[in-house]
Amino acid sequence: MRFTSLKLDSLRDLFIEELRDLYSAESQLIEALPLMANAAHSATLKSAFNHHLAQTKEHAARLERIFSGIGEKAAGETCEAMKGLVKEGQQLIDAKGDANVRDAGLIGAAQRVEHYEMAGYGTARSLAKRLGENEIASVLQQTLDEEGETDKKLTSLAESQTTPQASSTGSR
Ligand SMILES: [Fe+2]
Ligand SMILES: [Fe+2]
Repeated sequence: MRFTSLKLDSLRDLFIEELRDLYSAESQLIEALPLMANAAHSATLKSAFNHHLAQTKEHAARLERIFSGIGEKAAGETCEAMKGLVKEGQQLIDAKGDANVRDAGLIGAAQRVEHYEMAGYGTARSLAKRLGENEIASVLQQTLDEEGETDKKLTSLAESQTTPQASSTGSR
């Protein structure tokens, strides 16, 4: 979210801004998730990333439908927070070392993304309700639920991953 030189006169202005932030976030993820899937070592993690890529494309499409329904443009905002999260994810994609440890790092990066999205969709959903946009609120809730399910799935992968072999030959 970027509030620089933003004029917010109404809740609707804020709502549109939140939706554009989410749209930018989803668009960035459509680029980033294939790289995460490619970098994942475990087949389960790879398929979780690919499954969420398909969901992410649908999330972006839902936002596009919301925008066209209210006669606003989807573009015009860059989600700087997602840029940072993707950059951190890139560091793990580029990381060397034990495959299971790198997978655990990728899961952590992905869960940060999901939590960011959950915060954004929760906010947007609540604003939609306040604005009496109940249909939009339920579409946003649907996406929010999917982000939450993805987060839970990642938690179970994080806990079920094969414990990495101690590769250190150090004194401990
Ligand atoms: Fe999403
Ligand atoms: Fe997501």
